[in-house]
Amino acid sequence: MSKWFYANIFLLLLVLYQVMTHYTFSTLSLPVLFGLIGFLFYLFNWTRNAMFSSIRTTPDRKRKIKLANISKKVLPFHRWTGTSALIFIILHAVFIIKWYGFSYSITKMVVGLIACLNLFLLVGTGWLRLFKPTGKLRKIHLGLGLSLFFLISLHLIL
Ligand code: HEM
Repeated sequence: MSKWFYANIFLLLLVLYQVMTHYTFSTLSLPVLFGLIGFLFYLFNWTRNAMFSSIRTTPDRKRKIKLANISKKVLPFHRWTGTSALIFIILHAVFIIKWYGFSYSITKMVVGLIACLNLFLLVGTGWLRLFKPTGKLRKIHLGLGLSLFFLISLHLIL
């Protein structure tokens, strides 16, 4: 299994821990719920990266084919799951700002905003690839997916 599968499982556990220990967990407040749903949509898409990594590294041909087939099946939804992630994260941000207001001194909010901008560019380059499927755009899209992984990790631990 690719190291990315373990990294993704770790991030998922971290998010679940943060949500379950949040003071609003008993009522599951809308801002936290939208943050969780948006995150899950992103993770679903980012897991494709772990799959490609496994396809590249596994010597087992049968496993390569199996993973490639799974990846092909989810491809038609990839842009839509990414767009859903963006919509839920925008809702998360709107509810958070309505609740607490916005302050540059709250690092969690600043990192959240950078992550949201990153997600916007990630989804944008994803749609752009439909019209301009260049290698350069593929690399940028992948790089944005990777930077978002670290930004979300930071957003959660702050
Ligand atoms: C990709 C972008 C984002 C993701 C995946 C995300 C995800 C989450 C999740 C799952 C939580 C609940 C767990 C926790 O408290 O750590 C959370 C909390 C929070 N998020 Fe985000 N978020 C994102 C963007 C933003 C943005 C844009 C803002 C600011 C406007 C923001 C501000 C906050 C704040 C202040 C909390 C703490 C809420 C509280 O303690 O009541 N987030 N985020």
